[in-house]
Amino acid sequence: MKVCVLGAAGGIGQPLSLLLKLQLPAGSDLSLYDVAPFTPGVAVDLSHIPTDVSVSGFVGDDVEAAMQDADIVVIPAGVPRKPGMTRDDLFNMNAGIVKKLIGAGAKACPNACFAIVTNPVNSTVPIAAEILKAAGVYDKRKLFGVTTLDVIRSITFVAQAAGKSVDDVSVNVIGGHSGVTILPLLSSIDGVDLAQADIEALTPRIQEAGTEVVEAKAGAGSATLSMAQAAARFTASLVAALDGESVTECCYVQVGEDTSSFHAQPVVLGKNGVESIPPLPALSDYEQKVLDDMRGTLEGNISKGLEFANS
Ligand SMILES: NC(=O)c1ccc[n+]([C@@H]2O[C@H](COP(=O)([O-])OP(=O)(O)OC[C@H]3O[C@@H](n4cnc5c(N)ncnc54)[C@H](O)[C@@H]3O)[C@@H](O)[C@H]2O)c1
Repeated sequence: MKVCVLGAAGGIGQPLSLLLKLQLPAGSDLSLYDVAPFTPGVAVDLSHIPTDVSVSGFVGDDVEAAMQDADIVVIPAGVPRKPGMTRDDLFNMNAGIVKKLIGAGAKACPNACFAIVTNPVNSTVPIAAEILKAAGVYDKRKLFGVTTLDVIRSITFVAQAAGKSVDDVSVNVIGGHSGVTILPLLSSIDGVDLAQADIEALTPRIQEAGTEVVEAKAGAGSATLSMAQAAARFTASLVAALDGESVTECCYVQVGEDTSSFHAQPVVLGKNGVESIPPLPALSDYEQKVLDDMRGTLEGNISKGLEFANS
């Protein structure tokens, strides 16, 4: 299995690369690329850790070489959110980066699974879809927005509220990956019965948890360590799925016929990426209202991405 990380020298990229070096199956190749000149040094540093995962580092014009024949490409390249910025403020900076990197991926590894971390995910994933489509290599089963951070935050906060071990809590998060478009399904968690007041307090906290980190870091960026763990978990699930296991993860994928239909929800992953997308779990009245209310925002984010890609 060859896994490529683009943006590997960054706040997310470095701990993500470390986790992958420690967790990928023996015999895997880890390929690191970033525009930061010290990226080959990150690769040398990691290569001294004794696991059976080989590491190589690329920089500058070598993005296609880094991605050559990759099975999975994880993309945390971009600019992080600073206080006062929403994920959508990032749009102009990060949309161009994703467009360029996916364009290179379409040539170097057209059959890879692309997992996009770069925000605003609601828009950058449709951009990637259009770029892959224009190159004639789009496979909707192999393009993902990584929303796992919403899932792991939900697990942590729900376990705290319910006095449970995190190991006994599993939460589905649907919709998109920004503010009101994040909808944790807190009414249907196996073994956890939250009061409606708790659900209505936890839902906005999960939606705004990214801002909690941005403000606490006071100008130094957004979530990096928890995001690295989230991306490592999602990558591990993809690796297991490509190896033939059937794994379910919440992620942001094309759910309908065309690229205007991206949605986060539980997705069954298998040998070819998305294997099936089960119907949404039953929603409470509160959850249904949050879902109905977010629709316009999510559709706007998707259209913005599609327009950017086609402009
Ligand atoms: N999906 C999520 O849940 C989630 C959570 C947190 C952050 N993010 C997003 O992840 C991205 C990265 O965040 P970070 O904190 O690691 O930022 P960072 O600035 O620490 O790192 C970003 C890295 O990307 C690199 N980069 C920039 N342009 C590049 C290009 N064209 N090719 C390759 N590499 C390039 C930079 O050199 C840098 O090393 C941001 O867009 C941020 O908003 C997503």
